[in-house]
Amino acid sequence: SQSVRELYRGQDSFIDSEVFVKGWIRTLRNSKSFGFIELNDGTFFKNIQIVFDEELGNFEKISKLSISSAIEVKGKLVATPGAKQPFEIKATDIAVAAESEGDFPLQKKRHSLEYLRTIAHLRPRSNTFSAVFRVRSLAAYAIHKFFQERDFIYVHTPVITGSDAEGAGEMFRVTTMDPINPPMADGKLDYSKDFFGKETNLTVSGQLEGETFAMAFKNIYTFGPTFRAENSNTTRHAAEFWMIEPEIAFADLEDDMELAEDMLKYIISYVLENAPEEMEFFNSFVDKGLLDRLNNIVSSDFERITYTKAVEILKEAKAEFEFPVEWGCDLQTEHERYLTEEVYKKPVFVTDYPKEIKAFYMKLNDDNKTVAAMDLLVPGIGEIIGGSQREVNLELLKERMKESGLDEKEYWWYLDLRKYGGADHAGFGLGFERAIMYLTGISNIRDVIPFPRTVKSAEF
Ligand code: 4AD
Ligand code: MG
Repeated sequence: SQSVRELYRGQDSFIDSEVFVKGWIRTLRNSKSFGFIELNDGTFFKNIQIVFDEELGNFEKISKLSISSAIEVKGKLVATPGAKQPFEIKATDIAVAAESEGDFPLQKKRHSLEYLRTIAHLRPRSNTFSAVFRVRSLAAYAIHKFFQERDFIYVHTPVITGSDAEGAGEMFRVTTMDPINPPMADGKLDYSKDFFGKETNLTVSGQLEGETFAMAFKNIYTFGPTFRAENSNTTRHAAEFWMIEPEIAFADLEDDMELAEDMLKYIISYVLENAPEEMEFFNSFVDKGLLDRLNNIVSSDFERITYTKAVEILKEAKAEFEFPVEWGCDLQTEHERYLTEEVYKKPVFVTDYPKEIKAFYMKLNDDNKTVAAMDLLVPGIGEIIGGSQREVNLELLKERMKESGLDEKEYWWYLDLRKYGGADHAGFGLGFERAIMYLTGISNIRDVIPFPRTVKSAEF
């Protein structure tokens, strides 16, 4: 048999020959003596049209099939010049592989993304989600390709961990269903006697473990699930999301930004080239202007400004912000979007944030007030990447941990990295879902993850 992708990509080579395709009915209409089926076999965004008529022994049966029935079609591929699609199949034989019941929820009419979210097990069969999840798969591949071509080592960092990489305490705790030891008299659990012998949580970031590998392999990356128990019910926050975290040794913040910019441009180019039909669909139905914007991004430099400069711009801005801006405050989404959408109209790196609002591991700048951090902000979303050069001075690092309320004994292995050849290094984290939102124009994070885990949602 052939896949629909092969037929479309092989174009003329299959015309006038016998083909055999297997897929699901997306639409079916018929008259007394003939009918049309739009068939999708999952390998290609577009459907293929099947024409059938009374010559089929089972014409009546086929005519009555419900949407989403699975069928196997033999026939001749004929060119259809001038039609919407370049060819169709004149069926000589259609076998029913699996019938669908008549009440399949995805009938031809367009459904809202909100409704489709309630049927996450069926939504991959809709146009929008077929496009989203193919782009997601391609983007994941592009990321591996980008790093592997540059000789980065892929590290699998632990999902269950005893440390808090961001020092922000937004963690999901891990314990067994039935604690190995009963609660203590005060009702609390004694983690020292629990499964792992200490309190553990789901990882918020693979960075700290990634750094250990960077000190051995120089250039590494992680790509895996991360978890945050932030109670933020927004369109950009999920409790479970995927993160890509490269870590590079003998490198500073400049190198870090260069890597981030190259990587993002590479992913965009790869997806534009390898999913033209899907990207065209997003451009027409989700976000007009998406293709122009992405093409511009690939061909121009990202902006780079310091946090201090960003605050100056925001203070002078004519816009009304819900949260007023002062030096020292964290930038809110409204500020991030103002900078990228109103001021620069392109991706912007904001660097050198006040140390108080950033994680303990970031390198302290000479001014003793700011750290060598960078956030990449993009139009439509805000922060998509967060990164920094790392503090490699052991004493300064210990001090920063103390300020952040972290127990240095718990991080003894992390401090060891500074003792034994702790070369300058830097890294960043790209939120994979935010990258997919950026690539597709889809505005809610719930619609770029196969099975979204957000506050108060865990159907699966
Ligand atoms: O800025 P964050 O918290 O940085 C880190 O975790 C560092 N350890 C990265 C590093 O330097 N290796 O997170 C990185 C990115 C954010 O820019 C954002 O895109 C994404 O991860 N992210 C989320 N995406 C979806 N839902 C959430 N709750 C997210 N939190 C962060
Ligand atoms: Mg961040």
